[in-house]
Amino acid sequence: MSAPRDDRGESAEEATRLEWELNPAQWDFVQTAARFSFYVGGIGAGKTFAGAARAVLRMIEDPGSLGLIGAPTYPMLRDATQRAFFELLPRPLIRRYLRAEERLLLRNGSEVLFRSLDAPDRARGVNLAWFWLDEAPLCGYYAWQVLKGRLRQTGHPLAAWATGTPRGQDGFARDFETHPAPDHALFRASTWANARHLPPGFVADLGYSGAFAQQEIEGLFVAFEGLVYAFDATPGEHVRDPAERPGDAAGWARVIGGVDWGYTHPTAALVFGQDGDGRYWQLDEFYQRRASLEEVTLPALVELTRRWNVAEWFCGPDEPEHIAALTAALARAGLPARVTRAENSVRAGIQTVAALLARRPDGSRGLVVAPRCVHTLAEYRQYQWASADGERDPAEQPLKQRDDAMDATRYALHTERVRQRAADLTNAWLSGLRRGE
Ligand SMILES: Nc1ncnc2c1ncn2[C@@H]1O[C@H](COP(=O)(O)OP(=O)(O)OP(=O)(O)O)[C@@H](O)[C@H]1O
Ligand SMILES: [Mg+2]
Repeated sequence: MSAPRDDRGESAEEATRLEWELNPAQWDFVQTAARFSFYVGGIGAGKTFAGAARAVLRMIEDPGSLGLIGAPTYPMLRDATQRAFFELLPRPLIRRYLRAEERLLLRNGSEVLFRSLDAPDRARGVNLAWFWLDEAPLCGYYAWQVLKGRLRQTGHPLAAWATGTPRGQDGFARDFETHPAPDHALFRASTWANARHLPPGFVADLGYSGAFAQQEIEGLFVAFEGLVYAFDATPGEHVRDPAERPGDAAGWARVIGGVDWGYTHPTAALVFGQDGDGRYWQLDEFYQRRASLEEVTLPALVELTRRWNVAEWFCGPDEPEHIAALTAALARAGLPARVTRAENSVRAGIQTVAALLARRPDGSRGLVVAPRCVHTLAEYRQYQWASADGERDPAEQPLKQRDDAMDATRYALHTERVRQRAADLTNAWLSGLRRGE
């Protein structure tokens, strides 16, 4: 019996021919024989496309293989990585997609698992022939190392590839560029390499310069000097999972949020729980570029409010209509959260955040961030003063680049602090009032 034909008279097999045109860096990356490879590039440089194309090819060429596709968080996995993969995967190849297990089976017996890597240890226990990490530097070098240990499906060639924009000089920079490890290959593309698939003016709109442009547009591993915060990413210092907090079930004394509005630059909305000792735990983040206010940002803020019982949002004062829209959206959802215009003094706000980050007399930190908040963690490693030298002019400001989560942090914690100070002062004044005999 002949294969079924579509209305153009082609057989189903012929109809699944892959009609892709890859740019030169994508082409070399997809063809590489290196066991470990990294397509590093600027924003929009065709990284996810390259990783997804490679995953599709691998599944076709290696029947019966088990692979894993990972991204830093579940929303990034679903909205970018998985979406690009399914756009490239010819439908006739699919046998079944098991959504609850996030597992896809092809007719040739190949299989892939989709995983968010905000808790990489959950990926232990599988034997993989290949894996792909999208936005690998945000997933973290640790996740890459954990998954490398899972590369051991017998009878299949083994390979792992990463795609992403660099996030400073990390383990990826070392293994792929500064001290290349054996069997590691780096492929680099700037944003310009993919310009024909991007909106006109895309790079100019980003407005990046200096070290940020080198990282975000050229895809170089840049060392960021003159950092604003002394943030220690060693687990247990500034990075702490709230699930490990003793007495977590007791909940939070108060939950607040900070919002920095964006469009070309990301909108960042962060949630902080304050524990009984006055320590702030960053619990969650929403972080998205080019998100529509009505369709994406407001629903996300409503959802965060509901999930964490946010009592008050402190919002960037630059967009009064957005503040009004958030107030209305929360009211429509029947949520009692307050919405407040944030205090926006940069230097004083930075002092508040720096003081919270400092070690307290009991050895702990007054502000810690959950590992799932990958964009906030990346910003702490890159938030710089305008000049990189040691002496700070008191009027100096930080660079306005990749500061969206930093601004949202300042809005929430500093406004709360100013209010607390005002209340303390009032109480101090009033404490002198006595009724005479
Ligand atoms: N070879 C190609 N052929 C057709 N379209 C492509 C190709 N490479 C990339 N694109 C398109 O260009 C756009 C940006 O690509 P992609 O999302 O892969 O970039 P990225 O580097 O992952 O971006 P981001 O930094 O936002 O994650 C997408 O619309 C994608 O479909
Ligand atoms: Mg991408």
